[in-house]
Amino acid sequence: MMEGYEKAAADAEERLASAADIHAVADIERDLLGRRSQFTEAKRRLGDLDPGDRAAAGRRLNAARERVEASVAAARARLTASGRADRYEAERLDLTERLPRVVPLRRGHLHPVTQARDRLEDVFVGMGYTVAEGPEVESAWYNFEALNIPEWHPARGEFDTIFVNLGQPEEVMLRSHTSPVQIRVMENREPPIYIVAPGRTFRTDTADATHLPAFNQIEGLAVDRNITLGDLAGTIDEFVRALFGREVKARLRPSYFPFTEPSAEFDISRPDGSWLELGGCGMVHPNVLRNCGIDPEEWQGFAFGFGIDRLAVMRHDIDDIREFVNNDVRFLSQF
Ligand code: DAH
Repeated sequence: MMEGYEKAAADAEERLASAADIHAVADIERDLLGRRSQFTEAKRRLGDLDPGDRAAAGRRLNAARERVEASVAAARARLTASGRADRYEAERLDLTERLPRVVPLRRGHLHPVTQARDRLEDVFVGMGYTVAEGPEVESAWYNFEALNIPEWHPARGEFDTIFVNLGQPEEVMLRSHTSPVQIRVMENREPPIYIVAPGRTFRTDTADATHLPAFNQIEGLAVDRNITLGDLAGTIDEFVRALFGREVKARLRPSYFPFTEPSAEFDISRPDGSWLELGGCGMVHPNVLRNCGIDPEEWQGFAFGFGIDRLAVMRHDIDDIREFVNNDVRFLSQF
């Protein structure tokens, strides 16, 4: 009988040491010390022993009980919050380590084209515009049709479009400019609208010093009441100055785009007095507004678009645009 309880008490120590929570501890405690436990049973049976053996058996029984009680208390302490905190403190490892600077840390930075894009966004956001995006794979409707370039229009040929083998022939393409984002925005929002849409664009161009088949453009669109060509010219002046400084001037030259009327190209002045062509712009063609469900009698707009990579090339005086995609860190880290 005594051996049975001592054995159970020894087992309990192990069980308590591995108990996962205080509920498990309480169960074990009830098993071994509770009113219907082996301990109570053993104590009752002490009376059956010879009086001469009783005292010694009682001592052994109490010693076993004390051991169980101590183990229960230890398990409780281990599992309660303060017990855990004490344990964590005791087991704390100092993982801070000071390494001698063997190789100086070299910080990377954003790609120069990304920097130019971010800067452009900042300038336009500062003028109250928001940034919009559109998909890189477009349908003929968004890339051409809605922009007043019907199927027969010669301008389609000028875009050197990369078509995707989906749907009808020449129905799905990699967008050849960011202008389709104008359509997507006007379809989904009520004027007044002031957005810029930077993004990747694609054409069948072979890469050379001034062309990349995948390049970046930024599109601008303003639709509001009483918008005039003067607002367009002022906006271009303002962003050119914000980007390049007060000494750089902008000028508009009459041009043609199907989606604007009138249309212009805009140039910026170079220190040597020559002009550099940057992009196209104009007053949004009434057909384009109508295609998006906007009444051209009530709303007018202007739009513009130009290449971001070209802008970065100019800004950093880079002589081969392909450097931007060679990913040679020795080149890129200069900017
Ligand atoms: N999408 C034209 C291009 O890639 C650029 C352009 C011209 C955009 C006139 C415009 C615009 O928004 O009004 O050649």
